[in-house]
Amino acid sequence: MPAPDRRPRRLRQNAAIRELVSETSLRPADLILPMFIGAGLTEPREITSMPGVHQHTTDSLLRAAHEALDAGVRCIDVFGVPRDEDKDATGSESWNPDGVLNSALAALRREFGDDLLIMADTCLDEFTDHGHCGVVGTDRYGNAVVDNDATLPLYQQMAVAQARAGAHLVSPSGMMDGQILAIRDALDAEGFQDVSIMAYSAKYASAFFGPFREAVGSSLQGDRRTYQQDPANIRESLLEAQLDIEEGADFVMVKPAMPYLDVLAAVAEFSPVPVAAYQVSGEYAMLQAAASNGWLDLKAVMMESLLGIKRAGADQILTYFATDAAKLLRN
Ligand code: PBG
Repeated sequence: MPAPDRRPRRLRQNAAIRELVSETSLRPADLILPMFIGAGLTEPREITSMPGVHQHTTDSLLRAAHEALDAGVRCIDVFGVPRDEDKDATGSESWNPDGVLNSALAALRREFGDDLLIMADTCLDEFTDHGHCGVVGTDRYGNAVVDNDATLPLYQQMAVAQARAGAHLVSPSGMMDGQILAIRDALDAEGFQDVSIMAYSAKYASAFFGPFREAVGSSLQGDRRTYQQDPANIRESLLEAQLDIEEGADFVMVKPAMPYLDVLAAVAEFSPVPVAAYQVSGEYAMLQAAASNGWLDLKAVMMESLLGIKRAGADQILTYFATDAAKLLRN
């Protein structure tokens, strides 16, 4: 047997040399924590399929946000869960300044000022009684369709209400064509030039969103395949990201993360703006479930999954693990 003349193991032989050649590292500030505020709760309610994740009251939301900031997280993404009786066909509760999401944004901004960035989810699905991300109309053949252009003015109202409440960033996640331009125009017209837009650019019609539907008490029947992307495709992700950048997105995002790392890498390759990835509810749930069976080491897979997403090209990672991962990184 000839001795190998190339020995890559040389650079792995101890911790010091492994650290010397390490290409990717995670920082607490890379992580963005998605959080849920529930209407009418007297105490936080744990989401069964997402252990450790809650629908918060205002008090528990502020406490959890402090915990995230103390661990080094600099941005949270807030989703509102209204009462069923406050849902309607257009999702009008979403632009009510006293609605569940906007009042939570205001409380957060009062509490944290500019120390913690407050990002708002800018989508109607939590607020509509049919659960779609836009208004439902009828096409010329009488079929129900999610009406793109009728939805855009509603996104504008929602984004402006969020900015008024104190959001530093808005994050349109509804996959309507033209939503970034519409929102940028509306924010600018109201004097919110400094509010940033994180565009959910490549968002797939994914079954990995399953636990999120419980998290927000979704009313959805059917699916979102006429507006979210086909998991078979990558070209349209490149187009979506390019259009969002042209329309004024300050960040673009790929979602989910782990099954779409090729998409993330391809977007990161050309994007002139920061590229975020969203490790979604189903990705979180499957790691938690396996760990609770003793099949995976939770801390290890949490950190490995985040490192892999970062290595693939994410500048920021939205993850329900944000606080826990940031604490581990601190130690
Ligand atoms: C819709 C929205 C969804 C998620 C974030 N925003 C669900 C969907 O599109 O059906 C999913 C997040 C997750 O699964 O963690 N506004």
